[in-house]
Amino acid sequence: MCGIVGYVGRSAATPVLLGGLRRLEYRGYDSAGVTLQSSEGLLTLRAVGKVARLADKVRAEWSDARQASCVVGIAHTRWATHGAPTEANAHPHADAGGRIRLVHNGIIENYRALRAKLEAKGHVFTSETDTEAVARLVGEYNKGDLRKAVISALRQVEGAYGIAVVSADEPGRIVVARKGSPLVIGVGEGECLIASDPSALISHTRRVIYLDDGDVALVTADSVDITDLDHAPMDRDVARLEFEVSAVEKGGFEHFMLKEIHEQPESVRNALRGRLDLLNGTAVLSGMGATARELLDLQRIVMVGCGTSLHAGMVGDFAFEELAALQAEVQPAAEFRYRNPLVDGRDLVVAISQSGETADTLAAVREAKDKGAMIMGLVNVVGSTIAREAGRGVYLHAGPEISVASTKAFTGQVAVLLLMALKLSRGRRLSRERGLALAAEIARLPELIEAVLRQDAAIAKVAESMVKHEHAFFLGRGPMHPVALEGALKLKEISYVHAEGYHAAELKHGPIALLTPGMPVVVLANRSPVLDKTLGNAEECKARGAHVIAIVTEGGPEAAVADEVILIPDCDPLVATIPAAVALQLLAYHVARLRGCPIDQPRNLAKSVTVE
Ligand code: F6R
Repeated sequence: MCGIVGYVGRSAATPVLLGGLRRLEYRGYDSAGVTLQSSEGLLTLRAVGKVARLADKVRAEWSDARQASCVVGIAHTRWATHGAPTEANAHPHADAGGRIRLVHNGIIENYRALRAKLEAKGHVFTSETDTEAVARLVGEYNKGDLRKAVISALRQVEGAYGIAVVSADEPGRIVVARKGSPLVIGVGEGECLIASDPSALISHTRRVIYLDDGDVALVTADSVDITDLDHAPMDRDVARLEFEVSAVEKGGFEHFMLKEIHEQPESVRNALRGRLDLLNGTAVLSGMGATARELLDLQRIVMVGCGTSLHAGMVGDFAFEELAALQAEVQPAAEFRYRNPLVDGRDLVVAISQSGETADTLAAVREAKDKGAMIMGLVNVVGSTIAREAGRGVYLHAGPEISVASTKAFTGQVAVLLLMALKLSRGRRLSRERGLALAAEIARLPELIEAVLRQDAAIAKVAESMVKHEHAFFLGRGPMHPVALEGALKLKEISYVHAEGYHAAELKHGPIALLTPGMPVVVLANRSPVLDKTLGNAEECKARGAHVIAIVTEGGPEAAVADEVILIPDCDPLVATIPAAVALQLLAYHVARLRGCPIDQPRNLAKSVTVE
């Protein structure tokens, strides 16, 4: 949520800042703004809407010569939390004297109190944001040393922030700080960049410094000087970004979502690489960092996450119970923290998160830590807060996920959860034969996904039958129940069709009242021990005039009830969750495309929810 970019160097700042904002636009896209340091003081432009609107404004109002002379600046793309998406609420925000500008990602929880105090001193606020209070506070403390002023202000602040600040009186310097919201500094040759996400840096440098919570950095073209909020120097390593620039570009696809759907044979291959022991029917997950004894002593596994990551955890729940006979449960991360959860040192809490920055999931990690549970992260973004706070865990290696709708992260999460279940099942319920067979099935995942991708055109055709409908149901049983929830989530978030995922057997306990003739009902009817029951549930819908779209196993039993079918290859029912999810991603994608929706940036949403 919200994207921050900063540049301090020797080249013109605007192309770097606007280019960075475009890369970060998936983090928020309701308004944007930019401030440059210039010989005339600070220059600021802000615009409502996408970054392209800001770029138009920059072109119209700042001459090329003016832009070329400005080599320091900060910029922001916003996802509104406090105050509507208006120009006045867009960042960068100013202090009272207009000598300072600040961009912010996160939420200032005590902003009302700060605002009241500042208003009592005569400040007249120009926005409804929480951020403006911080900008004004920095101005209050500024006596010629911007970093000191930022530290003094931040000591008054409660909440989460990643900020970047410039002053008209300190040319060539940007002060940045973080607590709870990501910030990374790119270290180039004679230039430094700042971003809330490395995807904005990769075309400039691979050398990055991830700031830790409580860090404040003074960044110039040639130096990065980090302290904590007590002014004590902090040493941070320079890390190397391992992904390619192509990973954050569309590469010929119409949308990032479609590209990421098609990347899944490779992203799942990366998630599995070196982790499957096909000879012994188990998994090698060194990141779990636990001894065999510790794993055997576990009494329970609790998975926490939000949205799509929560659905992945629900599939994992089935895998842990079925394979490892280990008591498993999944909890929405937002709930876990507030319900005073019963976890202790014999429980493993797995925090599942693509971004590794989701505020609720992070809060759940902290809660579980306080309770003494063993924590692991199942995270995609390397170096993210959850990955670091969890201390151990397994990375997905899916590469950057730019589309707001999560796709390859989900399949990577499920694949890794299957590996974890395989590993934990050793010495528990799973026989060697079943372990060997399942490991072999998991190894086939890239080809199983490819088989679904080859049906893209056929799935697009099925989408045509759904496009006019405003409501849809997705039904599944067992591990396909969470896949049904995920299919419904994908459809609603990108196509704005109201979709409900249900356990197939639950429909008749109430929701079936909503069925009207022709309403699309997508039924996950793959080969599984409960197939007959699922088909029975599909019949119940058909009898009420529904248009049944069945996801069935190629060469498997006919689903005579279906009006249309989408085939997935024959495989183990747990493994089948992944190709089935890919089929539903494509279905949602094509419905949204046919409805003309802004697929990569759905309304009201933003990637990476860093507020609770
Ligand atoms: C849906 C989606 C969200 C995220 C959720 C958690 O397509 O992307 O539901 O899954 O916001 O995000 P992470 O996985 O980054 O913690």
